[in-house]
Amino acid sequence: MNQDFVKSPPVQQLLDRASGMTVEGGDDRLKHILRDLVEASMNVIVKYDVSESEFWQAVKYLQEGVGEFGLIVPGIGLEHFMDLYMDAKDAEAGRSGGTPRTIEGPLYVEGAPIVEGDVNLSADADDTDTLYMSGAITGMDGEPVKGALLHVWHANSKGFYSHFDPTGEQTPFNNRRRIRIGDDGRYAFHSKMPNGYAVPPGGATEKLMHAVGRHGNRPAHVHFFVEAPGYRTLTTQINFGDDPFATDDFAFGTREGLLPVPNRQGDTAYIAFDFVLQKADEEDDEHFSARARTAA
Ligand SMILES: [Fe+2]
Repeated sequence: MNQDFVKSPPVQQLLDRASGMTVEGGDDRLKHILRDLVEASMNVIVKYDVSESEFWQAVKYLQEGVGEFGLIVPGIGLEHFMDLYMDAKDAEAGRSGGTPRTIEGPLYVEGAPIVEGDVNLSADADDTDTLYMSGAITGMDGEPVKGALLHVWHANSKGFYSHFDPTGEQTPFNNRRRIRIGDDGRYAFHSKMPNGYAVPPGGATEKLMHAVGRHGNRPAHVHFFVEAPGYRTLTTQINFGDDPFATDDFAFGTREGLLPVPNRQGDTAYIAFDFVLQKADEEDDEHFSARARTAA
């Protein structure tokens, strides 16, 4: 079938009606987005001659996979694409430099304890090495950032996050803290060394990854938000540079400048890492994205 089929008058009229183009009311921008999205799906169906059975299998996949959308979205590269897109827009606006942003992932939990000083993130026992991490939070001119709040979250040695641990072994907010930073802009914490993890076995993300010949593994990593008055809120994470999946992260979280190699000595590992924040141009810069996040 010729691709022009989607351009035929009956299909175009269907698209107009389905997206609300032919009626008053509703959101005009959403109408256009919906129309383009449905038309793109139609083009894929025609291009690959998707059968009726395949079509309904795809619908079933989406229905069953809805609980894993937070993993599927980074797995297919869309979450990283958003970073690339925001970077490109920043560059166009002359806003570059500082610590790179990278994907948030689906496992942040709101309401972690707010702590100060040299912090221990791990409330639970975990038979693994101890990670020490420290550094400075500065602005682009090297000035210490005052009044920062550093959100940190990472997995345990089994690759599981508190609040999402299928073994049920972790206490709430284990390996999750919000660290109130002093006027010197320095932070320091220690915790039980995280390991990388794989997407849930047998789940929708794994099915898709395997179907396209990929794996669903992430290297060991630590997530951060950094927020401070007058600065752009930064969403980022470090991947451990010595992890086998360091540059083969299924979620595309690895970025240049975010890949420190832990200095491992016996049963301890040290990472020195500085955060460099851009100044906020507008109030919105200081906010988080409107993503739905787990609250506990
Ligand atoms: Fe993670």
